[in-house]
Amino acid sequence: MNILVTGGCGFIGSHFLRYMMDIYAKDFFICLDALTYAGNKNNIKDLLEDSRLTMVEGNIRDASFVDTLFVTYKPDVVVHFAAETHVDRSIIGPQVFLETNVVGTGILLDTCLRHGIERFHHVSTDEVYGTLPLQGGSPFTEQSPLLPSSPYATSKASSDLLVLSYYKTYGLPITISRCSNNYGTHQYPEKLIPLMIQRALQEAPLPVYGDGLNVRDWIHVVDHCRAIDTILQAGVIGEVYNIGGGKEIANIDLVKQILGILDKPYELITYVNDRLGHDLRYAVDSSKVQSLGWKPEYTMEDSLKGIVEWYGDTLKS
Ligand SMILES: NC(=O)c1ccc[n+]([C@@H]2O[C@H](COP(=O)([O-])OP(=O)(O)OC[C@H]3O[C@@H](n4cnc5c(N)ncnc54)[C@H](O)[C@@H]3O)[C@@H](O)[C@H]2O)c1
Repeated sequence: MNILVTGGCGFIGSHFLRYMMDIYAKDFFICLDALTYAGNKNNIKDLLEDSRLTMVEGNIRDASFVDTLFVTYKPDVVVHFAAETHVDRSIIGPQVFLETNVVGTGILLDTCLRHGIERFHHVSTDEVYGTLPLQGGSPFTEQSPLLPSSPYATSKASSDLLVLSYYKTYGLPITISRCSNNYGTHQYPEKLIPLMIQRALQEAPLPVYGDGLNVRDWIHVVDHCRAIDTILQAGVIGEVYNIGGGKEIANIDLVKQILGILDKPYELITYVNDRLGHDLRYAVDSSKVQSLGWKPEYTMEDSLKGIVEWYGDTLKS
């Protein structure tokens, strides 16, 4: 089987390639990535020594390039990670989020339809549901309304709806997953965990939005990858699956944990003006994907120290 992974040089896409190549020894993988500021070929450098992986640099917004890629590599399955992903950047400049996350996804869907693939799996986010109150409020289910706040989340919600429309209208065999915040190695240091580690190591101020009480549900990136694989194997075509780690933690508490691991003082924490439209809390009900036999295996308690050390070593070298 030929598996096309878009955005495979990014944070989660590179972990997904590593996870899948380890398990499925007979499959072939194509990594399609535009190598934007967030993409890093070094994330898959060792994997590229394996002849089962081909790296193709290109943009999902380029329809003729994407078509040629499908003619050349004949993917059976497409797992679509490629996206603009940073909420703060989407607030400063939303346009590229619409172009990549909506138009780029549309181009992939059209190409999949013309080439008759077996599955298009769309990797989405719990941010499409918008915010929960800090106290109370049930975790979002797949039936919860889509009420995104940021341009990033709105572009992802739009792409989710587009993907669903290709199933309902044309019968394209799709599945969608909506995951909570991922933690792990190889993330570009603009997101909370690597950014805070970088600042702490430099003994520079750690910028925390608002009062720092916003809550996120964290999942280990490898648990996310395993959940996507579970959906590829056992998921029902046309269905959406929430994926959550079940580990809710306030941003400020996570930042303090990182400082504790690095033995740096809390005085480095600097509260800054809140992000525009900042969602208070995300939490998802993952019982649907759990009914397929998946559950998270990693805990933040056991994993965070090793991850912090990995960033420390990487940022030093
Ligand atoms: N990081 C999270 O916590 C999280 C949580 C839930 C869902 N997601 C979703 O998972 C996916 C991957 O997220 P990530 O954190 O790994 O992102 P990332 O920013 O680390 O990686 C994105 C990758 O996509 C590539 N890319 C961007 N635009 C492209 C384009 N036009 N054509 C081809 N490639 C392009 C980049 O070069 C990069 O390698 C995204 O769709 C995101 O919405 C992320």
